[in-house]
Amino acid sequence: MCGIVGFTGRTDCVKVLLSGLESQEYRGYDSAGIAVLGQDGLQVRKAAGRLANLRAELTQNPVGGCTGIGHTRWATHGEPNEVNAHPHTDMSGRVAVVHNGIIENFAELKSQLIDQGVKFRSQTDTEVVAQLLGLCDRGDMRATLRQVLPMLRGSYALVIASASQPDTLWCVRCNNPLVIGRGEGANYIASDVAALLRYTREVYLPDDHEVAEITADRISFFAPDGSPIEKEIQQVGWDVDSAQKKGFDHFMLKEIFEQPRAIADTLRHYVDTDTLTLRRDRMPFTRKQAVLLRQLTIVACGTAYHAGMMGKSLIQRLARIPVQAEIASEYRYSETLATENEVVIAVSQSGETADTVAAVRKAKKNGQRVISLCNVIGSTIARETDAVLYTLAGPEIAVASTKAYSTQMLLFELIALDLANLRGELSDEELREHLAELLRIPEKMEQILAQKDMVKEFTRRMKDCEDVFFIGRLMDYYSSLEAALKLKEISYLHSEAYAAGELKHGTIAMIDDTTLVVAIATQESVLEKTMSNVEEVRARGARLLLLSDHEIAVPAKAEVWAVPQTFDAFAPILTIVYLQLFAYYMALQRGCDIDKPRNLAKSVTVE
Ligand code: F6R
Repeated sequence: MCGIVGFTGRTDCVKVLLSGLESQEYRGYDSAGIAVLGQDGLQVRKAAGRLANLRAELTQNPVGGCTGIGHTRWATHGEPNEVNAHPHTDMSGRVAVVHNGIIENFAELKSQLIDQGVKFRSQTDTEVVAQLLGLCDRGDMRATLRQVLPMLRGSYALVIASASQPDTLWCVRCNNPLVIGRGEGANYIASDVAALLRYTREVYLPDDHEVAEITADRISFFAPDGSPIEKEIQQVGWDVDSAQKKGFDHFMLKEIFEQPRAIADTLRHYVDTDTLTLRRDRMPFTRKQAVLLRQLTIVACGTAYHAGMMGKSLIQRLARIPVQAEIASEYRYSETLATENEVVIAVSQSGETADTVAAVRKAKKNGQRVISLCNVIGSTIARETDAVLYTLAGPEIAVASTKAYSTQMLLFELIALDLANLRGELSDEELREHLAELLRIPEKMEQILAQKDMVKEFTRRMKDCEDVFFIGRLMDYYSSLEAALKLKEISYLHSEAYAAGELKHGTIAMIDDTTLVVAIATQESVLEKTMSNVEEVRARGARLLLLSDHEIAVPAKAEVWAVPQTFDAFAPILTIVYLQLFAYYMALQRGCDIDKPRNLAKSVTVE
């Protein structure tokens, strides 16, 4: 949700800023802009729309200098036009600011500034910060920040450039992501580690309210009272290639195809593949904690929430512990009743989703132990929770989450197996059998990926359908929820998920021959029930696609995609690969911008 960059070095900054914005365009793509400190002082260039428009503007009106900041926007306050694009400057044009987040008291601050004669150009909350800094600055931005930051309410990651100190940048965060990369004679700022991989893998992760002052040779940190702080440098394990398309047409397709590797890497991290045991030091519960556990609450948003629902099903089924899965934006404001010996699990690819961060803080405030499943190393949620289990998916760039989802499901499978074993619900031998089967999942995923042309051909035949309903029972229902979300977010085709038995309570009225019903039937215990629901929709003229790993009597005129056989508890990690390919090719048929769907952004850092 908005990408910010900063660079200061001894070479021209424009190329670096644009490359940083390009790798973060998935965070927002309503408008983009840069501000550069050069011989002509502070120069700003902005353009509405995609980054390509800013590049065109820069070709027409070039700028140059060794220090600069940039921004790619997902609009919150003010429509997405050039005036509202960042960077924003103060009245004198000497201070420039890029911002990710929302200044909640901006209206109040704005009217105070207007009373003092400040003239505003944009409708944004960010301009208030630029004007405040400009008004207060006497040539020492660190001191100015000490004065201005306490006036701001809300969330922010800010990068600031000032013509009074042209070789220096400042940045500070409060509840929004910010990373600082250390280079050779150059230093970098970004919202996301992936944007820095081309330049450095040595990063600092500032905590909330710490101010960083950055020149080409020095990165210094200061507490809110101005006292210096020592921070440790972190090494990032991801490589540059992992953030490139590598010959695929879209990041989404590349990330779908990376799943066998992501699953294998994650398995190797948590499972000793020689002894077929879980690596105790990497699992979140001791035997005692597992035995005492009375309740688990999973909090997450969107796709991560769907993984959480899978987690609920897996843990209840295998470990027999009551679990509730809660949407983080609801949980944070609801009357939660904390139970004794309850643990909260937060799931988040980015580790920065505002609602999930708030849910984590609420649970911690209630005195609960909080565990997180995250993909981005060193992210806010990873840092603020008592234990973190990383998905080893590598950077996920496409807005639609794919490999993060399957690796989140895998972590829940491992947690469920571990808890079941520690609580005596699953013997060591059974645990080994399950782990051995999980180790076969990457190969089975490859078998599905090999069917991509068949999936593509099917979407060609279905591209005129008006609605798609995904139906299933138990875990297949949760897969349906994820499949419907994936399809609608990238193809804009109306799709819904229904628990198969629920359809006849209303929605079946909508079904006719323009409807495609995708039925998922992998759960043995409810197979016949689901197949009865399939017959009901077929009788109403729906087109039918069936996904199953069981021997089933195929209804006439139904398309069937065979899911490689596995344990029922693991089937969703396979079926989702077909469903992701289906969403991808459907969006392709419909000519959609797959990696950057309209109105969306990855990493939702506003509530
Ligand atoms: C959908 C999607 C979103 C995210 C959600 C949570 O494809 O990616 O629904 O799953 O915004 O994001 P994280 O996992 O970063 O907390």
